[in-house]
Amino acid sequence: MAQSNIEQKIRGHLANVQTYTPVEPPELLAQKAGIPESEIIKLNGNENPYGPSPAATEAVSKVPFHIYPDPRQRKIRQALSDYTGADAESIIAGAGADELIDLLFRLFIEPGDRILDFEPTFAMYAFSARVAGGSVQLVQRDELFNIDMDALRDSVDDKTKIVFVSSPNNPTGNLINKQTVEELLDTGLVVVIDEAYYEFCNQTVANLVPNYDNLVVLRTMSKWAGLAGLRVGYGIMNPGLVNHIVDIKSPYNVNVAAEAALLASLEDAPALLDNVAKIVSERDRLQAALEEMAGITPWPSEGNFILCQLANPEEASRVYENLASRGIFVRNFGSERLQDTFRVAIGTPDQTDAFTAALGEILK
Ligand SMILES: Cc1ncc(COP(=O)(O)O)c(C=O)c1O
Repeated sequence: MAQSNIEQKIRGHLANVQTYTPVEPPELLAQKAGIPESEIIKLNGNENPYGPSPAATEAVSKVPFHIYPDPRQRKIRQALSDYTGADAESIIAGAGADELIDLLFRLFIEPGDRILDFEPTFAMYAFSARVAGGSVQLVQRDELFNIDMDALRDSVDDKTKIVFVSSPNNPTGNLINKQTVEELLDTGLVVVIDEAYYEFCNQTVANLVPNYDNLVVLRTMSKWAGLAGLRVGYGIMNPGLVNHIVDIKSPYNVNVAAEAALLASLEDAPALLDNVAKIVSERDRLQAALEEMAGITPWPSEGNFILCQLANPEEASRVYENLASRGIFVRNFGSERLQDTFRVAIGTPDQTDAFTAALGEILK
């Protein structure tokens, strides 16, 4: 092979970038556990156990996908405006909220700029910041995983541009309160409040968008509407900022299947919100069951998942591995603060029963 030193041509900050660890697909998980795919219980991606709306499935099957999608997302933005109450010009959709996280960094971060991240939290913020050439300032949450404003003030400098907060926070499950959001906004930084799990708690700061041009609220169709595999999320922000995102995004970023599924899902929102109610009541049932067990402590959660704390990191990995060998997959984390934990997504009642029965045996 001719040698061109291809490795040396890769941008310095990307050559050895600290990457994101995504969840593996069901077929691989089944292979690892040595059981058929239909028997695995996948509780590692905070996906919706009831799947999408049948209306969305039907709409996707009819999409003429030889035609490009609308780059300005007119129907999507209008439907999301009707659903959220925000103006259509304040809304922009992405291929998942993940794409909007990436686009926000592209818009704001120059090499050397910093982002602030309240640890532990969703790892995509730090990952996308690094890909954009920014550096990541990790500010530890307090012992109850709340945001420490003094620690933030100590950490901000003139290179700090953006602060990201997931609310409810993935994976700890707690919310940020409105007063703290306002304190963050008053710093003048770009404040991104990621409400990916909004429908499970009904707490939002989207109503503050008209008052603050530095506020971005992110949402997704992945969780409440069961569209994770189609990749569609959205942001609510100042219309000027939306226009900048429109200018830099890939023109056809939300594909026609995702568009059709989103429109059908929003029309079928009452049925999907019934599923959300089932998940919330299952979350409360699982929380109560875990509280009864010795050797495990569930953190309270406002999302569709629960962070479970074990005695120590060795015990957490023993439980994780044992669950996996039975075909039950939960999420573990590499970060130091979460080494003695795993996160379990809320499944159907049958899945909860299988999970708690297995856990009971493993912890005995
Ligand atoms: C807090 C948070 N934000 C964003 C996302 C990604 O959402 P999407 O599937 O729309 O990219 C997730 C997914 O787990 C999440 O937990």
